[in-house]
Amino acid sequence: MTQQFDRSDSKVEVTGFEARYYDLLMNTITGGTYPFFIRRVVREMEIRPADSILLLGSGTGRNACLMNHYLSDQGRILGLDIGPEMLEQAHRRCRRFPQITFEKQRIDETLPYAESFDKVFIAFVLHGFVQEDRLRIIANAYRALRPGGEFIILDYNEFDPAKAPWLVRFAFKLECPLATDFALREWKPTLRAQGFDDFRSYPHYRGYVRLLAARKGKGN
Ligand SMILES: C[S@@+](CC[C@H](N)C(=O)[O-])C[C@H]1O[C@@H](n2cnc3c(N)ncnc32)[C@H](O)[C@@H]1O
Repeated sequence: MTQQFDRSDSKVEVTGFEARYYDLLMNTITGGTYPFFIRRVVREMEIRPADSILLLGSGTGRNACLMNHYLSDQGRILGLDIGPEMLEQAHRRCRRFPQITFEKQRIDETLPYAESFDKVFIAFVLHGFVQEDRLRIIANAYRALRPGGEFIILDYNEFDPAKAPWLVRFAFKLECPLATDFALREWKPTLRAQGFDDFRSYPHYRGYVRLLAARKGKGN
């Protein structure tokens, strides 16, 4: 039987010290590999020069700045986040790039975008919500995408954390319980039920992390 969770189990709202030093913490936790990992992930996104990209839970702006290298003047990036420290860092870091903007906006509420983006990217955010909110976020991504556009999820892969090596088990003890719930689910059927298909998948960190890209059908 699956365990029941509620919103009080979530730790995805990053604030204070953790938010101010978020990038440094990620670099340290991953033994200095994070900058190389995230560059590879951005290459796997297959960004085209004129793409419009929506970032859900955009964080410190590190990802937006890396993606911007692949864009021409025709491309644009909109990042949505609610963390004041995250938004402040993102504004500061990306201020040289006029086609990148950030807005304070909850992503688990219905968003006002329809068929406006070629890619919607969400990194290490989706696992932190209860399933009902995850489905709302996925529906937001679907609506925001143009037909043929891709929803790109970078997050934990599908596995049973209780059966993983001790280091992974330890990491999941520090994570919120919702991360375990996320890893135990099968995501392709859920995405298919919401109208996505044509998946691309790239494992990272010995397969415990995955980039999963899902396309919005052209006929939908
Ligand atoms: C673990 S961090 C990941 C940040 C970024 N995606 C990255 O990979 O570097 C989670 C991010 O989601 C944001 N967040 C949490 N809940 C949110 C919500 N309901 N709406 C928008 N952003 C949210 C946090 O402020 C934080 O920036």
